[in-house]
Amino acid sequence: MNRHLLRSLATASVCLLLLTLGCDSGGGASSEGAADADPQDTATSDAPEGDAPEGDASSGGPRVTLSGPSEASGCDAVTVTASVEGDAASLDWSLEGLPLIAAERGDDGLTLVIEAPVVTTETTLTARLTATDAQGAEGSDAITLIVAPTAPGEGLSEGMAAGCGPFPHGVASGDPEGDSVLLWTRVTSPGDAAAVELRWVVAADRWFEQIVSEGIVSATAERDHTVTVEAGGLTPGTTYYYRFESGEARSPLGRTRTAPAGPTERVRLASMSCSSIFSGYFNAYGRLAERDDLDAVVHLGDYLYDFVDENERVRVPTPEPPDPDSQALWRARHRYYLSDPDLRRARAAHPWVVIWDNHDVDDDGDRTQRVAEVFREYVPMRPPVVEGDPRVAYRALRFGDLVDLILIDALLHRTEDDILGPAQWSWLTARLRGAPTAWRVIGNQKLVSTLFVPGGLLDPGNWDDYPQTRARLFELLGEADDNLILSGDLHFTIAADLVDRPTDPMDLYDPATDAERSVGVELLATSISRGNFDEQLCSGRCDEGNLNIITVVQQELAVVNPHIAAAELIEHGYGVLDITAERVTAELWYSPIREPSRDERLGATLVVERGANQWTRSQ
Ligand SMILES: [Fe+2]
Repeated sequence: MNRHLLRSLATASVCLLLLTLGCDSGGGASSEGAADADPQDTATSDAPEGDAPEGDASSGGPRVTLSGPSEASGCDAVTVTASVEGDAASLDWSLEGLPLIAAERGDDGLTLVIEAPVVTTETTLTARLTATDAQGAEGSDAITLIVAPTAPGEGLSEGMAAGCGPFPHGVASGDPEGDSVLLWTRVTSPGDAAAVELRWVVAADRWFEQIVSEGIVSATAERDHTVTVEAGGLTPGTTYYYRFESGEARSPLGRTRTAPAGPTERVRLASMSCSSIFSGYFNAYGRLAERDDLDAVVHLGDYLYDFVDENERVRVPTPEPPDPDSQALWRARHRYYLSDPDLRRARAAHPWVVIWDNHDVDDDGDRTQRVAEVFREYVPMRPPVVEGDPRVAYRALRFGDLVDLILIDALLHRTEDDILGPAQWSWLTARLRGAPTAWRVIGNQKLVSTLFVPGGLLDPGNWDDYPQTRARLFELLGEADDNLILSGDLHFTIAADLVDRPTDPMDLYDPATDAERSVGVELLATSISRGNFDEQLCSGRCDEGNLNIITVVQQELAVVNPHIAAAELIEHGYGVLDITAERVTAELWYSPIREPSRDERLGATLVVERGANQWTRSQ
């Protein structure tokens, strides 16, 4: 969503408010609405593991003892040894803020090699090992590591610090299928070598004792020393661990998961968009990294931003990074993003499925191709469905008999009167008609549903400007029940029923009586960090009076848009979709963006029952 659009929205919504309440919105003022900052939470981390510590040695379970140094400097390799007395049926570690390099189980016990992260203030981090016996009794021990501050890399935003060693940008995985997943890393090239040979390894266990897939890949200067490999021969619906090796050096550990195949009870997807590193801290990514309950993360665009919003200068370094307008600067912007530890942790913890939006690629003829190529260098994506055209990001992934995840691109293939373009329509029609799954989940960058305020539509330039394409899409979706559209771009939360022309005054949609008019539901799960309604309306933080006004505006939005089941205009974060054969339950998780913080809260829960094609309204 561009700034102009947000300003229009703010203006239009104030108009709405004036029309409905006769209130004065007032101007911007300092805020008391932001969550408190906890300086300890500036801890940087890369570890994909974030299980909450639980149990202790006095609980009657196995006795765990950890030993290792209590102090370190950034990039030190710290060896923690563990002994476990008693029967340990399973072992689990949590590494708050610490990237794991190696975990080994030998005759002498257990060894964890962890990497002290680069931090800018003295930071205390915790490693915990928990052993559970066959009866479920737990024992655990924790060790704390005080990491001394060091200077961050030059020109980085606050809270950022590059990783260490030859893999400073971490690891990632993406586009999971039943028997394979894509693995990604970037290696720094010693002496500017044109090519660096890497080994990649996938294991079924955290200790890398059961290696199931491995190979050699060359990281070349042609791809900015990034690699994307397809790890095959895997088992559907299974969690794996992976790493890259360059000589003796190992990348941080990554965790990923294959898509399920065949009969599938449950799929859990996270949904998000609009992550400006300048507009806020990536606290939501930090919390996402600590989850262990997701099959995949779906990012719906504006994964990175090509500019700094003047109203949202939460963490802008000096000098400011130049806006990318060349291959070298786009690559630099991707690397800049990967100097954020929370983003690295989130990418290392789950397989991601990503489409781009207008701040990731610029729609500018020949240049688009080169920018899309750079995006593909840094974000693992399956090869384009139109062979040889890197601009084709629309694609689909199947999650057993439960979910067909269909990513469409409402940005790069537009014609004058069609937001999708003819080639994408052919592909989409075939995919939707061939989907044998219980649910069809369609990810796209823009809000598909109408968003109306007195005086006009709120999202001009996108689906609201292509009413015929939208009607055609709804007709196609209406051939089957149980469609769920995930969207991004608008920076606030909208949950809507998929109804063509729902605000037509001669045929106003009534969710209580017009169920047959809806062909499914849509969820836009706010922004990770890019400015929301309040940041734009108040040019920063809103005071309590303005926040109250915004609350009224969001209630009124739902009144004049009867297809909207929920709207929230302030919060940032992500959604989690719990999908079963009976229903989809969507949770909206919100966290602050203006300070580093571990705070997170469940803002709302929405449900769509199978066959209903409407969000369930509370009575
Ligand atoms: Fe955006």
